[in-house]
Amino acid sequence: MKYKILKAAQKGKWAVGQFNVSNIETLKAIFEAARKLRSPVIIGTSEGESKFLGLRQARALVSLLEEETGVPAILNLDHGKTFDYIKKAIQAGYDSVHFDGSCLSLSQNIVLTKKVVKYAARFRVLVEGEVGVIGGNLTDTKEAQKFARETNIDLLAVNVGTIHGIKKSGKNPAVKLRRLEEIKKAVGNIPLVLHGGSGTPEKDIKAAIKLGIVKININTELRNAFTGSLRKELGKNTRENTPYKYLPYAIEAVQKVVEGKIKLFRSNNKI
Ligand code: G3H
Ligand code: ZN
Repeated sequence: MKYKILKAAQKGKWAVGQFNVSNIETLKAIFEAARKLRSPVIIGTSEGESKFLGLRQARALVSLLEEETGVPAILNLDHGKTFDYIKKAIQAGYDSVHFDGSCLSLSQNIVLTKKVVKYAARFRVLVEGEVGVIGGNLTDTKEAQKFARETNIDLLAVNVGTIHGIKKSGKNPAVKLRRLEEIKKAVGNIPLVLHGGSGTPEKDIKAAIKLGIVKININTELRNAFTGSLRKELGKNTRENTPYKYLPYAIEAVQKVVEGKIKLFRSNNKI
């Protein structure tokens, strides 16, 4: 049971990064950064990412990399939208699933989240629930409290001002720290999750961890590093056609971003 990674983070007031992947190169980069800095990690795949990579292939690759590097990792289905797809991820061996019912009414969200929790419990799979829309409505404190009490989830994703992606201006909104503090008080011991970690001001990330954020999701910054480095390298040498010669640049670029996040979240030297 991998909950202990999150509980250790909660106790020590640091956070575990969830890094999203859809290919093996990004996965290699994350594990290399984690191995070097001795950090546990969470590997996230959205429905789209996991359809491209393959749920079972993701499971097999993460298990193999854990074994080869000695890095403990939680494989999480990110933003699972339907019970059917969540079931598929659990059957493929995922350690954790995020049910995103944030577009539903609170009562429907509670009903469906409970259904996911009941099913996941049979396989000892962790469940992340979500109240409030990332990039939309901030999480209402009372709603979060009711949701946490009634669903029995393991982790709670909240919207405290972050957005998915990075704004054109490069300046993402600040974290609403007062709301986060309020939610934390209301929900008690449940580890809280911050989505939309890319581009979020570093000082806000540090403050959010102090206030109870235990898991932070990063995707866009990894995609930018990967794609940006390929554009640059292939642009420099338009005749290059050998993947194992140009892909290492992308791996290196992603690894650098992950190393920065691990240090920012203070999950280094924890294994
Ligand atoms: O669920 C994934 C994340 O919330 C990633 O957000 O692309 O802004 O880093 P991001
Ligand atoms: Zn997200």
